[in-house]
Amino acid sequence: MELLSVPWSLLSSCCNNVTLLGIFLTAFVLLFDFMKRRKTWTRYPPGPSSIPFLGSMLHVDFQQPHVSFTQLSKKFGNIFSFQICWRNLVVLNGFEVIKEALINKSEDIADRPRLPLYEHLGICGKSAGMILARYGRAWKDLRKFSLSTLRNFGMGKKSLEERIIEEAGFLSSAFESEESRPFDPHFIINNAVSNVICSITFGDRFEYTDEKFQKLLHLFEESMKLATGFLPQMLNAVPSMMYLPGPHQKILQIPKQIIRILKEIVDEHKKIWDPANKKDFIDAFLGEIEKTKGDQETTFNELNLLFTTSDLFSAGTETTSTTLRWALLFMLLHPDIQSKVHEEIDQMIGRERKPVLGDQVNMPFTNAVIHESQRCGDIVPIGLPHMAYRDTEILGFFIPKGTVVVTNLSSVLKDETYWEKPHQFYPEHFLNAEGQFVKREAFLPFSAGRRVCLGEQLARMELFIFFTTLMQRFTFLIPENQPKPQLDPCFAVTSSPHPYQICAKLR
Ligand code: HEM
Repeated sequence: MELLSVPWSLLSSCCNNVTLLGIFLTAFVLLFDFMKRRKTWTRYPPGPSSIPFLGSMLHVDFQQPHVSFTQLSKKFGNIFSFQICWRNLVVLNGFEVIKEALINKSEDIADRPRLPLYEHLGICGKSAGMILARYGRAWKDLRKFSLSTLRNFGMGKKSLEERIIEEAGFLSSAFESEESRPFDPHFIINNAVSNVICSITFGDRFEYTDEKFQKLLHLFEESMKLATGFLPQMLNAVPSMMYLPGPHQKILQIPKQIIRILKEIVDEHKKIWDPANKKDFIDAFLGEIEKTKGDQETTFNELNLLFTTSDLFSAGTETTSTTLRWALLFMLLHPDIQSKVHEEIDQMIGRERKPVLGDQVNMPFTNAVIHESQRCGDIVPIGLPHMAYRDTEILGFFIPKGTVVVTNLSSVLKDETYWEKPHQFYPEHFLNAEGQFVKREAFLPFSAGRRVCLGEQLARMELFIFFTTLMQRFTFLIPENQPKPQLDPCFAVTSSPHPYQICAKLR
């Protein structure tokens, strides 16, 4: 009693009676509100225990969160709750649950959580770019504009197909210049894939040796690495830590450098901008800024142009490039499957003509191999975070507005109740008994619903043309005296293979 009385006496000496009454009333209202919320949250999903400050973070390995989530789902069920510091998350697992959420409750979970860390860069409100934009008018206008502009600059049309075919030629020549010596294909593939985004956004491709291009690619790769792990989670949960000095300050330095380079490119565009001749995405966006001047609600402003361009670059390079690296790795490890792809290419295209998108319908086996590479590569294992836009219910569980919703896409691509051989590379998953290609509902590497990947069509075109062009020209081999490359992935926003060496032998 004596111990307790000390703070009380201190408190009463500092506060007058009116303040004390205020404190009591506030505490009472908060307690009442908490009890009320608990009551309506009786169907809130179960989950692992939380500790003050850290929440349930210690239950997750942030280097491979999908593995932890899949393990937790075995204990708590396919819909379970979780806490990062004091932020509530619900993690969805398995095909049935994720289909119900992303497709049937698409709008209910179409929001994105606030990421205060990136607000330090100015990414918020009407200048949040595309990926992190909150669900609402700004996101809708930007998404509609981006999709139609990508289409106008060729997405789904001949001209972009031609650009991809041309870039596939450069990629193939770069492989050939290695003259069957062992090399790591990572950076060459990155160059080719990001050049496609460059030609859409900046109007031109870069030589693979261009210094500015190499710097930009390197910065994007670094920023991806820094965006993963425990630290960014902490900084988003406790944003005031950003005001303290320390190594965590580095997290924002790289994105700042990226924005600086993109600003230089935008400024160059502004100098020669001609409204009658819009050559690329940046020109079209500048046109939209002009058109919507005076509209208080518009999302078209220069800062948002920088963030959107950066989003297209980061979302459109690493993903497709990593998938291609997985596909080549599977070819190294399965020479029998590689031979069957070669056979189909020889039959349908031959060795001289360049592969085109129209070949895809006649090449079920190659198409199945690409799909299976995406399924097994599983490159965005926990998707991007969603947030409940309104109170909702998923398969009987209550999910309050504002809850972060994590879609464990990996658990769909490897769902043991759906796939015949979930943990093996088995292209037959996408073939029927007659050897024809079949679509599978649980093939969700691009996610689904309102926030489905914006670049899905572009990525599919690139994967087919790049993969088929390389396979037409080369046989891929594990270099002599080198161990078999490993299949366990490394995780940095995307899940990629460990660096490996390859020999590309001309066919
Ligand atoms: C194999 C390649 C790719 C894969 C596997 C992939 C996968 C994904 C996934 C899982 C999401 C999250 C969807 C969600 O929130 O539920 C996403 C979002 C997005 N992707 Fe892709 N992606 C790929 C290629 C691309 C390309 C080439 C572009 C560029 C044009 C792109 C642009 C975007 C954008 C802008 C978003 C955010 C969409 C929004 O929030 O509305 N992606 N992608």
